[in-house]
Amino acid sequence: MENKDLIKKALKAKEMAYVPYSNFHVGAAVETDDGSIFTGCNIENASYSPTICAERIAIFKAVSEGKTRIKKIIVVGDSDMTFPCGVCRQVIREFARDAEVIVANSTDEYKVYSLEDLLPHSFGPEDLKRSKKDSD
Ligand code: THU
Repeated sequence: MENKDLIKKALKAKEMAYVPYSNFHVGAAVETDDGSIFTGCNIENASYSPTICAERIAIFKAVSEGKTRIKKIIVVGDSDMTFPCGVCRQVIREFARDAEVIVANSTDEYKVYSLEDLLPHSFGPEDLKRSKKDSD
């Protein structure tokens, strides 16, 4: 899907943000390798720590439908260019290592990053498979 259309979906998802505590709205959209689209918004909680970011909702919706290969992720938030938080970057690392991460203010104003830009020297599934203990 065109970046502009995905950004529109993320902006629409942002309207559903449940944010009574921060009043900071975030929306996300992901496209998987078969062209499926999943969206998410941040969902907060009175106990605070159960709060989940918009990107993770969108990614987990995709994964829970069996779509584990993500090729694009859009993030839109209330700040000027809202970037994914550190926890979301790690989740992107798991399911969207080669994805384009698109941070947008609007359909006309956005930037495209790689995960390597956002989370260099990352830890991921491959590390567990090449533990030094294996060669003992
Ligand atoms: N938030 C996201 O949804 N995504 C991010 O990557 C940054 C933070 C949400 C979590 C919380 O509901 C609100 O923004 C303020 O931190």
